[in-house]
Amino acid sequence: MKKTMDSRTFKDNVLMELFLNFDFRAYRETRRGLVERHLAEMWLDSQRLPSSPVFCAMRHSLMAGGKRLRPILVIAGAEACGGNINELTLSFACAIEMIHTYSLIHDDLPAMDNDDLRRGMPTCHKEFGEAMAILAGDGLLTYAFEYVTSPAILQEQSPSALANILAAICLLSNAAGVYGMVGGQAADILFENKDTDKATLDFIHLNKTTRLISASVEIGAMLAGASEAKRIALKNYGTALGLAFQIKDDILDEEGDPAVMGKPKGSDKRLEKTTYPKLYGMEASKARLNELVEGAISYLDIFDHTAEPLRAIASYVMTRNK
Ligand code: IPE
Ligand code: IPE
Ligand code: MG
Ligand code: MG
Ligand code: MG
Repeated sequence: MKKTMDSRTFKDNVLMELFLNFDFRAYRETRRGLVERHLAEMWLDSQRLPSSPVFCAMRHSLMAGGKRLRPILVIAGAEACGGNINELTLSFACAIEMIHTYSLIHDDLPAMDNDDLRRGMPTCHKEFGEAMAILAGDGLLTYAFEYVTSPAILQEQSPSALANILAAICLLSNAAGVYGMVGGQAADILFENKDTDKATLDFIHLNKTTRLISASVEIGAMLAGASEAKRIALKNYGTALGLAFQIKDDILDEEGDPAVMGKPKGSDKRLEKTTYPKLYGMEASKARLNELVEGAISYLDIFDHTAEPLRAIASYVMTRNK
């Protein structure tokens, strides 16, 4: 019989057991709370600046909630490699969330997906106008790099930690830029309303979404001073997870509940986007999602219980409804 999401396999049962033994919800909520507090604390008072509306636009989108998956992956990646949740890890976690939030603000603009709702709130351009939304995105992207290179963080670091930080910054800029997320977003727009092949679909998904997700968990490993084998395992885990994440996003765009997701459904059909359900059909998309999540988990075989949060995150990506 063809495997679907409903027919349980051995691996599914292992996942269920994992869920019973590991309180993922508690893990996720404590890490999410840490990230939220850190983001709120770093926020500078801008009330007296003539540019204060752009700060309000940045804050509107950044502090609107969201799953905070990428910062949680930075933390879980570091923890899997024996690292602590310290200022350095949290600063990268928050920086990646700023970059992700900028990508959402720009993704929703009329020139791109033209959506009105994000994280359960009006999109940035709906609230502040297009010019401030574009600048809020620019501000978040740039501030992310200012934030991880602040003297307060760098002056505490040893020479080997500084080398890891530099490598992490290189990876982050590559994953966010034209060889990563920006390139994927460009292809996503360029291939609207087109008969697209599966290789192009994978190019779009692997770049617009996967690179930043994979970089998150790999950066966690780098900051913890992980061995090469562990770093590569987490990079591979992140690549399978990131593709699975975007396939699930495509599925939710057809089957999800906007009230739960905090964003509209049906945007992909409206814009004739290149998606997994469009090219493979819904059943095959769900099977591929399942397969990728199993693959992601198998990359963690070299880790012990320290990778349980990453295993649970993979399972969550498959079953999430927002
Ligand atoms: C939405 O990302 C954009 C995609 C890459 C599919 P998330 O689903 O992680 O959005 P938030 O951060 O929870 O709002
Ligand atoms: C966006 O993909 C990926 C980004 C880099 C922001 P989508 O356009 O499918 O994301 P949603 O569905 O609007 O969140
Ligand atoms: Mg888009
Ligand atoms: Mg969109
Ligand atoms: Mg989508």
